[in-house]
Amino acid sequence: MQIAAMTDHTGAEVRGLDLGRPVPEESRRALKAAFVKHHVLAIRGQSLSPPQLLQAVTLLGEVFSQHNSRFALPECPQIHYLSNQDHFPDGRRYIPGEGWHTDHSNDTRPPMATVLHAVTLPSRGGDTQFANMATAYEALPQETRLRIAPLIAIHVYQSSHSARKLMALPEASKERVPNAVLHPLVRSHPENGRQSIYINPIRIEGILGLDHKEALPLLGTLLEHATQERFQYRHAWQPGDLVIWDNRCLLHKANGDYDMNERRYLYRVMLQGEVPR
Ligand SMILES: [Fe+2]
Repeated sequence: MQIAAMTDHTGAEVRGLDLGRPVPEESRRALKAAFVKHHVLAIRGQSLSPPQLLQAVTLLGEVFSQHNSRFALPECPQIHYLSNQDHFPDGRRYIPGEGWHTDHSNDTRPPMATVLHAVTLPSRGGDTQFANMATAYEALPQETRLRIAPLIAIHVYQSSHSARKLMALPEASKERVPNAVLHPLVRSHPENGRQSIYINPIRIEGILGLDHKEALPLLGTLLEHATQERFQYRHAWQPGDLVIWDNRCLLHKANGDYDMNERRYLYRVMLQGEVPR
């Protein structure tokens, strides 16, 4: 197994590993260490069925129950799909994941990681961008770091300030998704101790103790700072890619920049995280 960094702050490519077969303990440990160090691993050349994918991800953690059951695979409901072939009830095409976000931050224990496995890709485009929130935090002026460190954000399923609308939750999902949760605006990574900005434009409804006139510009400034190109790794998908990323210290976004007559379809599974602190 070879692991090669993609940038000096985020992303590594993994070759010479077949997740469809038993993985030796030594390789599992090396993968885990690379995940904590590089935050995004692109494991090339995989071809996993849903049950194989489920089995493979348990190498790195426990499976998280995703919120919107409408995207669950009927034969393997812990795995959801991402597709460009779904439409809103009014007929508009639904492109999942457009706009910077971190997954399911409206959960009390949001997923540590998200895993995508490419099944069908468009001939070009559809990259996934990642922005490193720890590197971005460290680059903030000291004064801003001190200002935001004690702040607590309110996360909901769909922020009323979000430009991107999500698919509504079916009734069965609503029961287990909290109305709102509170998370710190700056969180510490439980495995490497680094602090990072924890924002999410599609989920944050407000900041405790600040009115919107103060909170929204602050969140806007942080987002603009944190998503500069210098903090990014942009993943160009290849057939057979399995990408796993750390939601605790990254934002990510999809790009609907390809021919929508071409199908883009991936499996998605998430791994359980802890209460952000
Ligand atoms: Fe996402």
